[in-house]
Amino acid sequence: MDSLKWWQKAVFYQIYPRSFADANGDGIGDIPGIISRLDYLQDLGIDAIWLSPHFPSPLCDCGYDVADYRGVAPEYGTLKDFELFLNEAHKRNIRLVLDLVLNHTSDQHPWFIESRASQDNPRRDWYIWRKGQAGGLPPNNWYASFGGPAWEYDAATDEYYYHFFFKGQPDLNWRNPQVKQAMFDEARFWLDMGVDGFRLDAIGTIFEDPHLPNHVPAISQKEYYQASRAAKTPEEWQEFARTSEAMFAGQHDLPEVHDLMHEFRQVIDEYPERVLIGETEEIAFYGKNNDELQLNFNFPLMHTRLITPAGVRANQKERLTALPASAWPCNTLGNHDSPRLYNRYGDGVHNQAIARLNLALLLTLKGTPFLYNGEEIGMRDFLIDDPALFRDAISPMVYHMETEWMDLDAPSALRFAAENGRDKCRTPMAWANAANGGFCPAGVTPWLPVNPYYAQGINVAGQISDPDSLLSFYKKMLHIRKANPALIWGDYKPLFEEVSDFLAFLRIAPEQKCLVVLNMSEKPQFIQPGPEVKPGKMIFSSDTNREKEYEPGRIQLAPFEIFIMQAG
Ligand code: GLC
Repeated sequence: MDSLKWWQKAVFYQIYPRSFADANGDGIGDIPGIISRLDYLQDLGIDAIWLSPHFPSPLCDCGYDVADYRGVAPEYGTLKDFELFLNEAHKRNIRLVLDLVLNHTSDQHPWFIESRASQDNPRRDWYIWRKGQAGGLPPNNWYASFGGPAWEYDAATDEYYYHFFFKGQPDLNWRNPQVKQAMFDEARFWLDMGVDGFRLDAIGTIFEDPHLPNHVPAISQKEYYQASRAAKTPEEWQEFARTSEAMFAGQHDLPEVHDLMHEFRQVIDEYPERVLIGETEEIAFYGKNNDELQLNFNFPLMHTRLITPAGVRANQKERLTALPASAWPCNTLGNHDSPRLYNRYGDGVHNQAIARLNLALLLTLKGTPFLYNGEEIGMRDFLIDDPALFRDAISPMVYHMETEWMDLDAPSALRFAAENGRDKCRTPMAWANAANGGFCPAGVTPWLPVNPYYAQGINVAGQISDPDSLLSFYKKMLHIRKANPALIWGDYKPLFEEVSDFLAFLRIAPEQKCLVVLNMSEKPQFIQPGPEVKPGKMIFSSDTNREKEYEPGRIQLAPFEIFIMQAG
């Protein structure tokens, strides 16, 4: 195991800085707040932090629109605070990985302000500017992935600029070598300071077809949106996915991106022990000889309504087979863009047990696990019911499309907009059963509403001393993963592949073999493993009634039981 890199052994924890901890009581999370919770994180047992963007930003996309890549947003603190954070994290053996947005900057970034100033500005070509077509039409028919056209007209210079996301996020022109050098230098600034790597945002969208071909299914945004809403069956979804693919074909995953990632990897490799993590599920980003990004998310695992034994087995089979030799897997079930896993995968009755199974799954599958802040206390989505409180610009857009294009009544459209925006999973962390969940002082209005569930035990203080809480379970499982090398680097071998109620697999390392059984059903199960499972000591069972002594050859599983045993 000593040959493994730190990021192969680590469990990552994503911090969404605006919502994590507010030290100065202004209703917005900040870096001193994070520092004050480092002991908590150390005690929880995580090894690395992925910090969502902490840079100055006008917040058109909640921080994913960066106005200065070397700064710290004033509401989060200063560069000095950041350095202290980095040092304090390192003192506790916690690594720190930043979120680097490469595809675009904010339209308030000085580079863009210069670029838009005139057609002959030296930075004009740092972004993607084109003339419109006759008749006041944009350069082509491409759409932005967040809705609306991908081109924004700029009257001052009578040209359009391209943006894959919101119009406040103009795409950088990565075909310009100056852009590449400038961005590599921004990365070096943090690497020189000692950060441990980057999670690279939306890398698939960095290049687009320079010939700007119109997309083929020339349907309007309205028709496209209606098609997305009309798809109900898996077949209809597939059909919609095909349309979607054709619509955005010229706008993402162009082959050039791999040369760029390879070059960026060389920058990183000038520094010891740094890591690049791609926000992509594309295996090609590992590179030809592992020479691009060290980790890329297994998003297909989480892109499912329900986590089922058959679904996980199929995912693992496909993913692990497709990974190039020595590429390291990377699993996650939640982040700041997706629903909270507690309610997303819950069945409404056994959510607590299912949340535990899902954590056990993440920590026992092969690959580096990524957790999202708040999962450890079972935070749920919170649906905002006042449009004035939306902070994610996706919600107002969805509201508009629902009322204008789908003829939905206002209350239903509001609910749908809240469900389909991302504020719901970004609400402040609940630290205590106190005003504002202990996130900020009473009387202060937090930047996003606090989920009132904090009063029902969904808060850190309430769970930390309760041995049966979800938080205590997280701690226990994180500890178990660390203490059992097979769970970190053992090969994955599925067992009982025809069974639909439970998932059973072996993790086989030179020094240890573990059997993991996750009963994903509400019924007891009975399993009789074959000779490859040697009777060994029990490592963990979530069934408190299980006898310490048991017969390893014949395992009776309680409903939703998590069972881990040494198997040779
Ligand atoms: C990534 C981020 C998301 C952001 C988008 C544009 O997908 O995770 O939050 O909106 O990129 O930067």
